[in-house]
Amino acid sequence: MTPTPLAFEDEGSGTALLLIHGFPHDRRLWIPQLSALSSSMRVIVPDLRGFGVSPAATTTVTMDEHADDLKLLLQRRGIRQAVVAGLSMGGYVALAFMARYPAMVRGLVLCNTRATPDGAEERERREATARKVLEHGVADLAEAMLPKMLTPGTLSTRPELASTIRGMMAGQPTAGVVSGLRGMAKRPDRTPMLPGIAVPTLIISGSKDEAVAPAESEAMARAIPGSKLTVFPDVAHLSNVEAPEAFNALLRDFVVSTVPRMAATAD
Ligand code: MLT
Repeated sequence: MTPTPLAFEDEGSGTALLLIHGFPHDRRLWIPQLSALSSSMRVIVPDLRGFGVSPAATTTVTMDEHADDLKLLLQRRGIRQAVVAGLSMGGYVALAFMARYPAMVRGLVLCNTRATPDGAEERERREATARKVLEHGVADLAEAMLPKMLTPGTLSTRPELASTIRGMMAGQPTAGVVSGLRGMAKRPDRTPMLPGIAVPTLIISGSKDEAVAPAESEAMARAIPGSKLTVFPDVAHLSNVEAPEAFNALLRDFVVSTVPRMAATAD
């Protein structure tokens, strides 16, 4: 499939940080990061194909094909290397990008994600969900997913945030959501590549993440040499949204101090 130009934001200057949203989200997921981080680095935030205002997914887009779109985006922006960060499905895409374009990756950030593939049951569940979405639209899926995105405490004390996240999910194009479900079901096992990852790697999870258990992050941290793991307490799946200050401080330190230092040590 030919790589597709994506809708994106590109703000700030310095080391490039590519932020890849999860499912079924778009680049607005990273609003808490964009202005906070673009004062100290260059932040590139795309809508993946089929999501937000990027071109529609006319067929199932695999994680590899999303990675190809992102390579095109970086190339067109004149960026040869970036710190590549992805949350959940964005993490699947980040690992696909790492596998395909390792020379373009200066550092890797894997948030609330996993390297393991779907099992047979999960693939069936995704296909059943895709059929429901085709028949009834995205709203029911958004409603069903919301309790996994944020902790019960956040859902009850920050109703505006809950409504923003619900609205972002419910507003995604049907074709993009179906493509996302089928594309994720097709993703390969990335576990074998983990011991070979030689760039600085930061792994982030939330202690209350029920969509991707912290154990998945711990397993990646054990497998990727020299990687650092942070599990935020009392945080669910959207760690960048629920703990934005701590998340931003961690990511800023990783991009501004840790990546250059670790890269220099490795040289
Ligand atoms: C996501 O947040 O991107 C999804 O929960 C990932 C998944 O369904 O595997």
